[in-house]
Amino acid sequence: MRGVDPTVLLEHHCADAWPALVDQPLGQWRLRAAGGFTGRANSALATGDPGIPVPEALRLAIGFADGHGIAPLAMAVLDSVTEKEIADAGWRMSAHDPGEPGVAVLTGGLAGLRDADPAGADLTGIDPTGTHPSGAIVRGTASEGWLALAEGGEPSAAALHVLTGGTTVGFGSMAVGGETVGVVRGAIVGDLLHISRLAVRADHRRRGLARTLLAALAGWALALGASRCVLQVADPNDAAMRLYVSLGCIEHHRYRYWSPAGA
Ligand SMILES: CC(C)(COP(=O)(O)OP(=O)(O)OC[C@H]1O[C@@H](n2cnc3c(N)ncnc32)[C@H](O)[C@@H]1OP(=O)(O)O)[C@@H](O)C(=O)NCCC(=O)NCCS
Repeated sequence: MRGVDPTVLLEHHCADAWPALVDQPLGQWRLRAAGGFTGRANSALATGDPGIPVPEALRLAIGFADGHGIAPLAMAVLDSVTEKEIADAGWRMSAHDPGEPGVAVLTGGLAGLRDADPAGADLTGIDPTGTHPSGAIVRGTASEGWLALAEGGEPSAAALHVLTGGTTVGFGSMAVGGETVGVVRGAIVGDLLHISRLAVRADHRRRGLARTLLAALAGWALALGASRCVLQVADPNDAAMRLYVSLGCIEHHRYRYWSPAGA
């Protein structure tokens, strides 16, 4: 996609890192479906030029969603020309999360994440299982413990496709006494590490585990040739925002979801 707007390109990389089951191009848009697992994998990526008038593209998006048994949803960059055209076509900001402020897309350098490995982290009791001196491990497959903490249990086939398919994926985790207490997913697209599903069990927060997990994931991704990262934070999430900003990430743009009127 040479000569394409950098925000559109970044959104396409994020879409590659979170692959839908069905992903149909429509000009620079992408019509995506994955059994309802996440808005990102079940919405029209409405960035850039669809190659046909936007109202017509939106009609095709509705037909696509109907055909795949999902609610029609368009994901547009906040305050973009396309977002205005979607509003002009009579679509409404979606009740689907997160609404008004949108989801923040942050980018940053990976060296900052790797080198922020906190000497001050409290790693007491962390199982020394890891590929990283802290005990964190990055594997190519998601363990049961990873899925339990990140997804709340056994994911659907569609969810598993999104989580594991498409590109090089690493599942970072930390455990205490064999129980997973921290997880993160990384997917590599070109020189970009897409970070998602970061979670630390509530009784282990503020020990530096998230920062440590990200350092381990960044080391894994740097070894595979990535140099930058991208991630999404849905507002309000002060903890995650502060964490990523403290690691040198900055907001690149925001997006939000739109639905047809009456949907
Ligand atoms: C966000 C989350 C992963 C942070 O995990 P954590 O292990 O507690 O984070 P750390 O201890 O490594 O904290 C690192 C920094 O993040 C920021 N931070 C973390 N939790 C915070 C909170 N509750 N309030 C404010 N800042 C917070 C701080 O800057 C902190 O540094 P400091 O302790 O030196 O002040 C955890 O709160 C969580 O699992 N939340 C639910 C899932 C989630 O929101 N994931 C992120 C999706 S984008």
